[in-house]
Amino acid sequence: MATHKRTILLARAEAFAAKMSMRLPILLAPMAGACPPSLSIAVANAGGMGACGAVLMNPDSIEAWVAAFRQESNGPFQLNLWIPGPPPMRDPLASWGPPVRSEAAEAVLPDFEAQCQFLLSARPTAISSIMGLFSTPFVSEMKSRGISWLATTTTVAEARAPEAAGAEAIIAQGMEAGGHRGTFRAEDAEAQVVGLMALLPQVVDAVSIPVIATGGIADGRGVAAALILGASAVQIGTGFLRTPEAQIHPVWAQKLGQTEAHDTRITRAFSGRPGRSVSTRYVEAAAAPDAPPAAPYPHQRGFVRLMLQQATHTGDADRMQMWSGQSARLAQVQSAAAITRQLWQDALKFPS
Ligand SMILES: Cc1cc2nc3c(=O)[nH]c(=O)nc-3n(C[C@H](O)[C@H](O)[C@H](O)COP(=O)(O)O)c2cc1C
Repeated sequence: MATHKRTILLARAEAFAAKMSMRLPILLAPMAGACPPSLSIAVANAGGMGACGAVLMNPDSIEAWVAAFRQESNGPFQLNLWIPGPPPMRDPLASWGPPVRSEAAEAVLPDFEAQCQFLLSARPTAISSIMGLFSTPFVSEMKSRGISWLATTTTVAEARAPEAAGAEAIIAQGMEAGGHRGTFRAEDAEAQVVGLMALLPQVVDAVSIPVIATGGIADGRGVAAALILGASAVQIGTGFLRTPEAQIHPVWAQKLGQTEAHDTRITRAFSGRPGRSVSTRYVEAAAAPDAPPAAPYPHQRGFVRLMLQQATHTGDADRMQMWSGQSARLAQVQSAAAITRQLWQDALKFPS
């Protein structure tokens, strides 16, 4: 690549990193249930940005997370919430685990308004959204406190909306991504499945704010490719899951090391919202033509809770919840700080 082009794309990444108080344009992806403070501390202290997926946490637990992070890092971090969708309808499923009581369907989520108010008072570097947009008054409150809004989107049409509503940057999430799809309407998540290679340059062309690439990036080649396609930074989830700081179940960590790109699948079978998981036997069974449809979010969470608890306890890989992106095989068993530094060092070798 011509030197002047390399200079332009590095300058773009460095400018965004500086704006977000990062030394490297690498963000840890928010991962509900898989983002202990230790992981964020390691990434932020290595120059990236930490992240907490707070959808299932009440303000007290978010406060404890923030305190633990700040005790060991003064680096940047983002707090992440799912934008609530329309109220779900109920549709009980046959059980895969121990008998399920009928109240199990009442999966209760933390109060969204209370979470939002706490996020403002915690004054993180950034608050990120997924599956929709924050309200105009909330965005004004964020801005008045100097908190940046990073908005997850999965199509060009979705990406235009947060720019108009005041987002600081767009997170373009390719369909390769592990965990839940950020699609604004759950109904679109399996029909509008756009890969990052196609999505990223088109989002970059469609908006004038910085774009963070996420989904399937797990080594320096992926980081460099994202920068070449116009990203200002990358956000990485699965690529950090095998680090000791992520503290995920050893069976899940081991499975990721054996998961080829075609061994994952988008499923509603854990929460009712589509997300990319390892194709476990349970996930495959739930996708069979004669399987009952998953209950809507969040009730499916209630139906599978006991099965997941039992599977976690016994280490049963067939029934455990194991989110995974398509680049799981690239995830290294190494410290998160070493991975963060290596990603950037390797990325710098490519666009030259
Ligand atoms: C275990 C797990 C949990 C996730 N939870 C969230 C979440 O709570 N909020 C969110 O915005 N994205 C969530 N994601 C998606 C990530 O933020 C990111 O889009 C994805 O990890 C990027 O793809 P990759 O895994 O291939 O790096 C999750 C991903 C994983 C793997």
